[in-house]
Amino acid sequence: MLTIEWKGDRVRYIDQTELPRATVYKETTDYRDVIESMKTLEIRGAPAIGVAGAMAVLLSACHPEGELVESIKRAAGEIACARPTAVNLVWAVDAMLRKLDRVENETDQVIRNALTDEALRIWQEDQTACKAMGDNGAELLEDGMTVLTHCNAGALATVDYGTALSVIYSATESGKRISVYADETRPLLQGARLTAWELMQREIDVTVICDSAAGYFISHGEIDAVIVGSDRIASNGDVANKVGTYPLSVVASRHGVPFYVVAPLSTIDPRLDSGEDIPIEMRDPGEIISGFCPSIAPEGAKARNPAFDVTPAELVTVIVTEVGVLRPPYDDSISRALKSAKID
Ligand code: MRU
Repeated sequence: MLTIEWKGDRVRYIDQTELPRATVYKETTDYRDVIESMKTLEIRGAPAIGVAGAMAVLLSACHPEGELVESIKRAAGEIACARPTAVNLVWAVDAMLRKLDRVENETDQVIRNALTDEALRIWQEDQTACKAMGDNGAELLEDGMTVLTHCNAGALATVDYGTALSVIYSATESGKRISVYADETRPLLQGARLTAWELMQREIDVTVICDSAAGYFISHGEIDAVIVGSDRIASNGDVANKVGTYPLSVVASRHGVPFYVVAPLSTIDPRLDSGEDIPIEMRDPGEIISGFCPSIAPEGAKARNPAFDVTPAELVTVIVTEVGVLRPPYDDSISRALKSAKID
């Protein structure tokens, strides 16, 4: 099961808003549908959004509206703004535009072929990176551990395997028995709906808990590690992830529980010195009043809905990437990792 795929002239993806009730695939040839699907979380998770962004740019090349190069550039501008926090989106759209720059004076067919190659490279690299993160992080988990995760940082948040969940998949494949506590992740329940579904598909022991119960289980010594993904990491190691991650890191630190972040290098934003500069998406307050649940607050109740928060680097035990496990001080380890991958 791949979360997103290129099918010659169209994109095929799982509509994650239908899970776990039904596994529904959608196909489209219109980049605007992909933008809408990212906004409504039919496609979600930072790496998956990056791949979807690249494929949306490719759709605009395959189905141009007017002159080809102008049409692609216009679409790319719209696509890059679909969601503001996950830097993977801008990273992938920029990669497509750099490719376009190199071929823009060639024929339309050459341009389309070049952009197809680039989108498929990004798609393939996502899978390779996720597998490598899983293998690199698996050494952190021991047989019999119970780990707590927040939101969904699994196969559904990427093309396959996932980031945080890839570590659990790799550890279990090597014979370790790992139990997972999944925060339900209000308001849109990515943990209860998606993480629990994914782990149950793979027959990994999973227990869904209310977000507000995480402190109870951590303080009672029932959690050996917290493991999460990320939407953007600043160059000092501050980590943005689904809202509710920051309080988890505080409670974990208070009780001496390690706090692991798993993310590909494409999630690191070397332009930002610290997490203070990470843009936090504010979503519709209606998601809190009646997101995936029937209406749970009085009609007209006020609500506020930041979708992400920032965990300071000092509370992050390690950052697992595809090139290895990064340790504090993160300014150093991040800049060395980016240099080794020739990104700066
Ligand atoms: O709003 P979402 O569901 O896109 O938020 C996703 C997350 O917060 C994930 O934890 C993050 O993207 C890491 S995914 C590998």
